[in-house]
Amino acid sequence: MVVPPTPANLERAAQIICSGGLVAFPTETVYGLGANALDATAVAKIFEAKQRPSFDPLIVHISDREMLQQVVREVPAVAEKLMARFWPGPLTLVLPKLEAVPGIVTAGLPTVAVRMPAHPVAQALIRKAGVPIAAPSANPFGYLSPTRAEHVERMLGHRVDLILDGGSTLFGVESTIVLLAEKPVLLRHGAVPLEELERVLGTVALQVEASEKPLVPGQLPQHYAPRTPIRIAAPEEVPSALRKRVGYLAFREVPKGFKVVKVLSPTGNLLEAAAHLFEALHQLDRLGLEAIYAEPIPEVGLGRAIMDRLRRASA
Ligand code: TXA
Ligand code: MG
Repeated sequence: MVVPPTPANLERAAQIICSGGLVAFPTETVYGLGANALDATAVAKIFEAKQRPSFDPLIVHISDREMLQQVVREVPAVAEKLMARFWPGPLTLVLPKLEAVPGIVTAGLPTVAVRMPAHPVAQALIRKAGVPIAAPSANPFGYLSPTRAEHVERMLGHRVDLILDGGSTLFGVESTIVLLAEKPVLLRHGAVPLEELERVLGTVALQVEASEKPLVPGQLPQHYAPRTPIRIAAPEEVPSALRKRVGYLAFREVPKGFKVVKVLSPTGNLLEAAAHLFEALHQLDRLGLEAIYAEPIPEVGLGRAIMDRLRRASA
């Protein structure tokens, strides 16, 4: 059931979390499918609902620094620096975990991915529940991420106890993931652009992990995929006879001759484009088109995360 995030509904949602149920909630990136991170049985329901392979570890969401101490063993100086700048916000840090975090959350890894979301509904839910909340994106495994409550309802409505509706999400792409090993390693491009991370890290070199190594499923070559085949191509690369039969996901301008066109940002704003990406793909995917063609986006700032998602969707 989809409900607005009134104080009474947040209370109800927190109770569901505390009694081992599943709540879908908005974050500033995409909607998450949440369960009590310290309750292995509750977390197992996430895997069941998403039909997610159990080798795929989850992100643990916290409301404040005190909660971090319930899940993480130590915080290296570099992590402190990143938290100071980006938390609350769309940066996930992979850190050494405490015993209390069940193996199902981390797929048996000695580390745990943690993030402190900035969205007021996510914040309120975690605070009221009083426990860290494990939450992957609220979509069936491998499918498009949800940026609106109705996406969650359509895809997983029957498998979730409650869906909190916080409207459209701000960023529309998932958090950036950084592993803090000896050197920081960028595991997934996301809502915090690489350039911003590098600015904060200064002389500390950030290793950008080759995407062929599937350390995280967001790094699997095929992921975030619609049901309709998707290809990346400039409009002029699509033969005009074919245009009549396919959809086009354009960056700024409407190209001629396509059956349907969705434009990500008429002004060429990458933040706006990211925010509209999954919604536009959801819409195109529902039209039963022969194929979707997507325009290449400039690979700077958030453009990197957008192109990363498009490449995986098209793999
Ligand atoms: O923006 C987001 O991050 C959203 C919202 C809901 O917070 N969540 C999200 O979760 O995108 P999910 O499960 O779709 O992606 C989490 C990624 C996975 O690819 C997972 O493998 C990786 O984080 N991950 C989790 N724990 C890890 C660990 N210990 N080491 C390396 N990667 C990890
Ligand atoms: Mg996901």
